[in-house]
Amino acid sequence: MKIAILGGTGPEGAGLGLRWARAGHEIIIGSRDAARAQKKAAELGTKVKGASILGTANRDAALSAAVVVLTLPAHGLATTLPPVKEVCRGKPVVSAVVPLTFGGARLYTPPPNGSAAEEAQALLGPEAKVVAAFHHIAAHELASGHPIDCDLLLCGDDPSAKTIVAELGKSLGVRVLDVGPLANAGPLEGITALLATINRRYKIKNSGIRITGI
Ligand SMILES: NC(=O)c1ccc[n+]([C@@H]2O[C@H](COP(=O)([O-])OP(=O)(O)OC[C@H]3O[C@@H](n4cnc5c(N)ncnc54)[C@H](OP(=O)(O)O)[C@@H]3O)[C@@H](O)[C@H]2O)c1
Repeated sequence: MKIAILGGTGPEGAGLGLRWARAGHEIIIGSRDAARAQKKAAELGTKVKGASILGTANRDAALSAAVVVLTLPAHGLATTLPPVKEVCRGKPVVSAVVPLTFGGARLYTPPPNGSAAEEAQALLGPEAKVVAAFHHIAAHELASGHPIDCDLLLCGDDPSAKTIVAELGKSLGVRVLDVGPLANAGPLEGITALLATINRRYKIKNSGIRITGI
């Protein structure tokens, strides 16, 4: 699968790209700055023998990919998504974005739409098949050499897109659980605020989540 990762120069996107490249997927790192994306792609390429990892500007990355993954700060969605709206038409668009505000009274600070994923859907229009996923797999966990110790919870309104994203999850070796419509993205993203709090309190970097009873 050809996967574009917008904001893939950061630790979360680069970590996903690295794991997917190891699983045999083609990766296109996207950035606001094509040169920065190329540099990150070259760096990741040294870690996976025979991998296909390229870097380019966000729009060009989204244009040539079958699946588009968003790993950028929530406050960047409003400027990043309108220019890629046309090239995301009909494609699964995976949002791993979590609207967190550090240092304030409330860590999880969703937009008026209810979640970053629903904001992405509103900005991209109904023809993009937005799926919320990967919020609970920390960048630190992705960068580690060991198997990912976390369930993958995903939600979205398009069944075919969820099937594709579930396959991407399984290719990382994680158990995948479908947690319903995109309207559940808020609770999904909010769990990341709990994990971030646990990380701080227990001085760790990679707490995750597992669902029991299933
Ligand atoms: N880090 C984690 O462990 C983790 C875990 C779960 C979910 N997440 C979520 O995943 C997303 C990415 O996390 P991260 O830690 O990799 O974030 P990050 O390093 O802060 O940002 C990732 C990339 O986004 C781009 N970016 C920064 N500001 C932007 C803006 N205003 N507009 C457009 N692009 C911008 C930058 O790339 P360029 O400058 O190259 O464009 C940056 O390298 C966040 O929403 C985060 O909440 C992170």
